[in-house]
Amino acid sequence: MMNKQYVLITGGAGFIGSHMAEWYVNNNYQVVIIDNLFRGKLENIQHLIDQGNAVFEKLDLTEYDDIKQIAELIVKYKPFQILHYAAINGTQYFYDTPEKVVEVNSLGTLYLMKAIVAAKKTVSNYKPLVLFASTSENYCEPFNVPTKEEDLTYFRLEQDRDSYAVAKMVSEFYVKLYCQKIDLDWIVLRIFNVYGPKMVGTKYGQVIPEFFNRIENGEYPLKIFGNGRHTRSFIHINDHVEMTTRLVFSDKLVTNTVYNLGNDYEISIKELGERIMKKFNKVPKFEFLEEREGDHLRRSPDISKLLSIIGEYEFISLEDGLDTLIKK
Ligand SMILES: NC(=O)c1ccc[n+]([C@@H]2O[C@H](COP(=O)([O-])OP(=O)(O)OC[C@H]3O[C@@H](n4cnc5c(N)ncnc54)[C@H](O)[C@@H]3O)[C@@H](O)[C@H]2O)c1
Repeated sequence: MMNKQYVLITGGAGFIGSHMAEWYVNNNYQVVIIDNLFRGKLENIQHLIDQGNAVFEKLDLTEYDDIKQIAELIVKYKPFQILHYAAINGTQYFYDTPEKVVEVNSLGTLYLMKAIVAAKKTVSNYKPLVLFASTSENYCEPFNVPTKEEDLTYFRLEQDRDSYAVAKMVSEFYVKLYCQKIDLDWIVLRIFNVYGPKMVGTKYGQVIPEFFNRIENGEYPLKIFGNGRHTRSFIHINDHVEMTTRLVFSDKLVTNTVYNLGNDYEISIKELGERIMKKFNKVPKFEFLEEREGDHLRRSPDISKLLSIIGEYEFISLEDGLDTLIKK
């Protein structure tokens, strides 16, 4: 058997992580996946395991006892890239269990970094690239839209929603400081809303699959938090994977820095709802609910830094991207 290179993906049974795993396998790499299956599903990666291209370990990044096992996995497989996607994601969790969100999303990164430090001590000349999946939520209500990487990130102590952002900000720091300490290259991706197949569509999921789910289950009019004028910028998962991998494999990659990663096409939640309802041949009609506390009005990335590395990029349109979610 050919001696393939390994990549480690935390949260690899989840939405983005499993699509990343698929890309690496399709491009002749082997993947080591760590996930505690909190929201991820084995079925997302079972085919990769069955083909012998993925190793799966059910481990919890917040369990101190699991650090040793993670370090051993790193020593065994020596992944040339470590992609850290494991976290609690899903806006409703930020409101319902904010203390758990802060704990898992910060401690998980700290423990992963400790495992990397421990592994590096035993493997000579080991220099993996560490990629951390951060978030556009760190810009809170952005000072500028489109938002650049150097725009301010901040959190509001009075808003439970920011449990997610504060943990991601602390994690960015952990990744930077620990990598600096042991001389590893790192990049932080501030990811703007991703959508696509395999995404969770329950109330603990994300807006696009949730709208699909509710409409399919007969909800009419469609319920929207707030007045629907909030905006977001959605990137299809295929574009997300393509841009990320172009970036990390680029000869021009600049490491030890932050990149916004998203599609800069901005759309209001109401218009998004209209477009999805039309896909189901429904006349758009809405019921507006009380706004979620601390929600952000606008979000759209300035991606010029990313494009300066990967070159011009043609995105999948929202219209075409939404079609990939329609059950045949
Ligand atoms: N989906 C988006 O639009 C988006 C936007 C910005 C940032 N991100 C970030 O990208 C990453 C992936 O997001 P996603 O949408 O695929 O979410 P997801 O929930 O599908 O994936 C996260 C995975 O992490 C796993 N996990 C959670 N806690 C864990 C723990 N303690 N130990 C081990 N595994 C654990 C979950 O089971 C899940 O499989 C997350 O870090 C998220 O914060 C996602």
